[in-house]
Amino acid sequence: MPATVVVGAQWGDEGKGKIVDLLAQESDVVCRYQGGPNAGHTIVADGETWKLRQLPSGVVSGTTSVVGAGCVVDPEVFLDEIDLLESRGVDPSIVVLSGNAHLIMPWHVTIDRASERRLGKLQIGTTRRGIGPAYADKASRIGIRVQDVLDAKILRQKIAVALAEKNVWLERVYETEGFDLEDVWSRYAGYAERLAPFVGDVSLLIDDALRAGRHVLFEGAQATMLDLDHGTYPFVTSSNPIASGAATGVGIGPTRIDRVLGVAKAYVTRVGEGPLPSEIEGPQQARLRELGGEYGTVTGRERRCGWLDLVALRYAVRVNGITSLALTKLDVLSEFDELPVCIRYRQRDGSETPHFPAHQSDFHHAEPVFEVVAGWRRPLDEAATLAELPGPARAYVELVARELEVPVELVGIGAARDRVLA
Ligand code: IMP
Ligand code: MG
Repeated sequence: MPATVVVGAQWGDEGKGKIVDLLAQESDVVCRYQGGPNAGHTIVADGETWKLRQLPSGVVSGTTSVVGAGCVVDPEVFLDEIDLLESRGVDPSIVVLSGNAHLIMPWHVTIDRASERRLGKLQIGTTRRGIGPAYADKASRIGIRVQDVLDAKILRQKIAVALAEKNVWLERVYETEGFDLEDVWSRYAGYAERLAPFVGDVSLLIDDALRAGRHVLFEGAQATMLDLDHGTYPFVTSSNPIASGAATGVGIGPTRIDRVLGVAKAYVTRVGEGPLPSEIEGPQQARLRELGGEYGTVTGRERRCGWLDLVALRYAVRVNGITSLALTKLDVLSEFDELPVCIRYRQRDGSETPHFPAHQSDFHHAEPVFEVVAGWRRPLDEAATLAELPGPARAYVELVARELEVPVELVGIGAARDRVLA
């Protein structure tokens, strides 16, 4: 299938990077369509660990890798990762950056931090990389785009317009120092020469690739439950990670997308604030965190851990139009005797529902209804095919497919590339 979206089906960190890396080897182009350096994709390939924040995971396999208009770009992180490619012998000319993508400016990072401080107990728990403020300026039409750095005069003018307002905010509202026009201008104009060779027409490039029958992979960052419109607002990111975001973020029509692969962990995790109904109570949570190495790639924060939530996953199947699933990190569950799986939510009136609540208060009050299934209590290393998994592990995968009415196409049983069973 030529056009595939890979989307996070939970709260992020499902192991999308690894799945993209795997599929990238049979793809011609990999494309990021939203988000910025808030993403943290960890990929282990040929014994080397890659931690990417801004570039598509396709770079690891040397596949043409594209950053679409829907992304926000921190030029410093972008160029650091270009340097990383060079140092690891990957030709950076495989990277194409949309001139329409918005730039993260220094004030975005300052405002992200300051506004989280101000929210206090009500904070979102952002990655503090300036993501929200950059998207807010994009919507307010005072954002600065990649193509703006290519013309020093335009760049200066746009920075001047932005700073005229930002410095007032920073000084009077957030009581912190503003930015100097000449400083910011010279720094960003300085990126022009290095960024210029990467800037291209992403919409046209992808359209050409699809017309030629090439395989294009759209790599979502963050995840369904962090979607600005369909996630657990306000505890979300400021872009649209869901599959349809690929069309807007790249500049192709929705009819061009052939399939949507949802990536879900065999349990759930969440970094940052906001409800997580199947969050584990008691010491089992810390045990799962240790076994799964559940600490943020970007921020190092402890991830909150819960049992697999099929209500949330059913919702992800709906809002993304998921056609198949990849279930990752199944091996992490190998040490548990029993595995609770959340199959319904109990609502305030005592009734049970398989559907994700449409209103925030209903979601906040939702209690998980668990079906407890047997663990397999042995490592999964030996299995070379899905059929070779221990019976209870196979049953676990089958339960997911049956409940969601979606095939589970890939199952992750370890960090390395070859530890994904098809
Ligand atoms: P922001 O994207 O930095 O604005 O953060 C908003 C919310 O999304 C916070 O709860 C973050 O922890 C979460 N978030 C952002 N990026 C990721 C990611 O790549 N994985 C998991 N959570 C993320
Ligand atoms: Mg991550």
